[in-house]
Amino acid sequence: MDKIRSAITGVGAYLPEYRLTNDELSTMIDTTDEWIMKRIGIKERRILKGEGKATSHMGAEAVKNLLEKTNTTVDEVDMLICATITPDMPFPATANIIADKVGIHNAWSFDLNAACSGFIFALSTATQFIESGRYKKVVVVAADMMSSITNYKDRTTCPLFGDAGTAILLEPTNEDVGIIDYINRVDGLGRHHLHMKAGGSLSPASCETVQNGEHFVYQEGQAVFKAAVSSMADVAVEIMDKYNLKSEDVNWLVPHQANLRIIDATARRMGIKKEQVLINIEKYGNTTAATIPLCLWDFEKQLKKGDNIVLAAFGAGFTWGSVYLKWAYDSK
Ligand code: UT7
Repeated sequence: MDKIRSAITGVGAYLPEYRLTNDELSTMIDTTDEWIMKRIGIKERRILKGEGKATSHMGAEAVKNLLEKTNTTVDEVDMLICATITPDMPFPATANIIADKVGIHNAWSFDLNAACSGFIFALSTATQFIESGRYKKVVVVAADMMSSITNYKDRTTCPLFGDAGTAILLEPTNEDVGIIDYINRVDGLGRHHLHMKAGGSLSPASCETVQNGEHFVYQEGQAVFKAAVSSMADVAVEIMDKYNLKSEDVNWLVPHQANLRIIDATARRMGIKKEQVLINIEKYGNTTAATIPLCLWDFEKQLKKGDNIVLAAFGAGFTWGSVYLKWAYDSK
């Protein structure tokens, strides 16, 4: 094979210790474990606590875990992209803060905002740099501290989200593994259904925006649900058709973990059996950009070199996308 492919050669993660269970949530809002399990499929989510800790803390710990696992030195990293919608601050980029915390100084870095599709968009972007032949080691961080923008008085959103940091390493390969292709889409009209109202140039932070709770996630759940179910499956089926992949050819579907019912509907449309789907939503909830790499990290030992994997995500923007890749290694 002449073409340089970009392959995931390692996965790292960081999970905060604190577990916010459905039982604890039931003491904060009018909800029950039964409702959350039946309508969403989440049992608990991790929450980052501690003075001075934010998204960059989780991202940096995930990168340290990744570099150690892959025997990579900080000086070898050429580039770092951080997918997040909960940056430490509007500027500078959280990617730069992570690079500094880890000691990566021979690289350039930037943030990418595609909400729950952040990992797929960042992976697609990073892949270009590897395929160009110019970059040898690119780190993609996907990290979100959703607890920092979640209203714990709003029962329609607060059971959904959790905090996590993840990182993957991309390297060139001439073998028949790695990122085969991706299909990414956006529809800016979707912004009306899922956004954060204030804190940007349209509505800078003020006493009023804080009083009105405009620095939290605003979501019209049913509109987002409907769009997620159709769009995620559309791109996943499109990429399967493009490569003539039958459902039995797909070893693993790794979907964004927002709602178990969305995952089930996507798998059904693709003709994929439940056993072929990587799911950990019950343990961590929707960690936004981090869900897909967190699944890869959680199930890494089950992934075998050459496995056909389809990733699929949908998020605010609206953004959605699907990646077809062949897993590049057997984990030790
Ligand atoms: O990752 C980014 C993209 N985000 C998503 O993919 C999220 C997509 N949306 C969803 O997953 C679902 O729409 C939700 C989980 C957010 C909501 O589930 P739903 O089945 O669409 O519920 P609903 O909004 O239609 O509400 C049904 C009922 C309402 O009560 P009434 O009006 O029928 O009396 C809600 O007030 O459920 C009520 N409800 C709750 N009840 C107990 C809403 N949240 C809760 C709750 N506990 N936490």
